[in-house]
Amino acid sequence: MRTSSSAMISLLYILLFSVSLATSNTVHENFLHCLSLHSSPSAPVSTVIYTPTNSSYESIFESSARNLRFLSSSTTKQPKLIFTPSHESQIQAIVICSRKHDIHIRIRSGGHDYEGLSYVSDVSFAIVDLVNIRSISVDTQDESAWVQAGASIGEVYYRIAEKSMTLGFPAGICPTVGVGGLFSGGGYGNMVRKYGLAGDNIIDAHLVDVNGRILNRESMGEDLFWAITGGGAASFGVVVSWKIKLVHVPSTVTVFTIAKTLEQGATELVHRWQFVADEIHGDLFIRAVLEVANASSTGEKTGRASFISLFLGNTDKLLPLMEKSFPELGLERTDCIEMSWIESVLYFGGFSNEESMDVLLNRSSPSKNFFKAKSDFVKEPISKIGLEGIWKRFLEEETPIMRLSPYGGRMNEISESETPFPHRLGNKYIIQYMLIWEEEGIEASERHIGWMRRLYSYMAPYVSKSPRAAYLNYRDLDLGTNNNGNTSYLQASIWGTKYFKNNFNRLVHVKTKVDPGNFFRNEQSIPSLPLWRKKKRE
Ligand SMILES: Cc1cc2nc3c(=O)[nH]c(=O)nc-3n(C[C@H](O)[C@H](O)[C@H](O)COP(=O)(O)OP(=O)(O)OC[C@H]3O[C@@H](n4cnc5c(N)ncnc54)[C@H](O)[C@@H]3O)c2cc1C
Ligand SMILES: *[C@@H]1O[C@H](CO)[C@@H](O)[C@H](O)[C@H]1NC(C)=O
Ligand SMILES: *[C@@H]1O[C@H](CO)[C@@H](O)[C@H](O)[C@H]1NC(C)=O
Ligand SMILES: *[C@@H]1O[C@H](CO)[C@@H](O)[C@H](O)[C@H]1NC(C)=O
Ligand SMILES: *[C@@H]1O[C@H](CO)[C@@H](O)[C@H](O)[C@H]1NC(C)=O
Repeated sequence: MRTSSSAMISLLYILLFSVSLATSNTVHENFLHCLSLHSSPSAPVSTVIYTPTNSSYESIFESSARNLRFLSSSTTKQPKLIFTPSHESQIQAIVICSRKHDIHIRIRSGGHDYEGLSYVSDVSFAIVDLVNIRSISVDTQDESAWVQAGASIGEVYYRIAEKSMTLGFPAGICPTVGVGGLFSGGGYGNMVRKYGLAGDNIIDAHLVDVNGRILNRESMGEDLFWAITGGGAASFGVVVSWKIKLVHVPSTVTVFTIAKTLEQGATELVHRWQFVADEIHGDLFIRAVLEVANASSTGEKTGRASFISLFLGNTDKLLPLMEKSFPELGLERTDCIEMSWIESVLYFGGFSNEESMDVLLNRSSPSKNFFKAKSDFVKEPISKIGLEGIWKRFLEEETPIMRLSPYGGRMNEISESETPFPHRLGNKYIIQYMLIWEEEGIEASERHIGWMRRLYSYMAPYVSKSPRAAYLNYRDLDLGTNNNGNTSYLQASIWGTKYFKNNFNRLVHVKTKVDPGNFFRNEQSIPSLPLWRKKKRE
């Protein structure tokens, strides 16, 4: 055992040296030695390290990465090492030794970060990929579950439904998203109006801190616990697992989708939807999705709005609600489909009703493409003229999408400072702008991103201002970045107040306390304040 693992270490050392991670070979020898010292004999870190010369390196690197923009870019941005720990003690060893030997790490759970921050970096780095830390245990008696950070939300939903048809969890819509990123940045889905965000329903967590200790809610304290339930955990440590509070779902829910093109009155309906969707009964979530489509009559390009809905109840209860508040949509009994909550997860995930629940366990994304996304919050309904300007810009592109998700309900009852996610009362809905494309290359990328930026500037008058708020989980580096982690407070507060409003200051305070040396960092991590640090030491 000992011999084989030290042989492995020497082999690794040679591999590392040959790919010139080493500025000084002793550093890396020492790093690997440190890892072996801190590994437990039953779970040595050496068995979960992938170097670029390993034949599995590329497939592991690409496995969960979602945005092709960051897979095709130069290999200098790729990690020098990928760790795939399967035991929390390995995460502790990786953190202790990386910090000691100044190895920059990125933490990856589901790999869905819009700007690739979990798997690419301008500076030499290693990935800690939590794909093998993903067990889930559901306790139906206690109506809670422990979920490890590398699990996808599809896996979480599946494991809940396996045990109970009347419990669920309010998180994201796409099943392949990881709970490490999703929960720590807020995380909303189609039960947001009834139960709030995923982050609002976390009751405990295990986190490896910068000293390699495993902390729970009690030992980390309420400040740090608060920070990781909406402030993005990547600035504070490695989340190993979450304890979540499950919520009640009825045994029968109702879904419907009604789509209308511009010719069929899409603009009027979207306009009207803005007055209804955040005020209607909290059991009803109606998302509006704007896209480009072909008109069925002429085949010509047109705009289309789809109203995709989940109602936590049956059709008999839904129809009168809609008749009273949103008759313009013309919902009829034949549009309504009753099903179980877990079937509605598949419906929203875009799977056909023939598909087995097992697709939720499939972590591969059906498609990978190049994309750029942004977000906005809307406080006042956008005028019809404003909406027409959106369609005009849409028709210049191939596959633009705007997803408008209503808030209101439970979201209005939670104060702005309850968690770092501040976008509560006063926000009618969140906009996700998404543009996907298939062509490779810088030129295509710049053209499409340019279009997205023009749409975003067009929207400025219609959305929240001072700050123009944004959602952390719809990461957008156009809002500003840290410069190798050496960022002034003022510079970071530009994007920081967009994501967190006044909570930004408290996040900086927590960061300065728990990670003063800024070990956990990326292009948009919370800065620690050097001045405070100095004062403290004196
Ligand atoms: C197809 C798609 C659908 C989406 N749908 C929704 C949706 O319905 N609702 C919604 O709210 N959001 C949605 N999102 C956005 C999503 O919430 C964010 O992209 C989220 O950060 C992804 O988490 P992840 O673990 O998959 O990503 P990763 O890329 O692995 O991580 C994202 C960030 O979190 C950090 N991080 C990850 N794991 C940990 C950990 N264990 N400890 C500390 N830091 C960690 C990473 O370092 C990185 O900074 C969607 C994104 C995509 C691509
Ligand atoms: C790749 O790395 C893994 C994990 O360290 C190891 O088990 C495997 O043997 C390596 N494969 C090759 C071909 O070196
Ligand atoms: C619209 O039609 C064009 C060509 O007729 C086709 O390439 C495209 O895929 C269609 N778009 C949609 C959304 O169906
Ligand atoms: C998982 O999904 C991918 C993408 O849709 C698909 O290619 C693959 O066959 C699926 N795997 C299983 C086991 O179903
Ligand atoms: C960080 O920024 C300060 C002030 O701009 C500068 O003096 C210092 O050299 C920078 N440090 C690094 C490591 O870039």
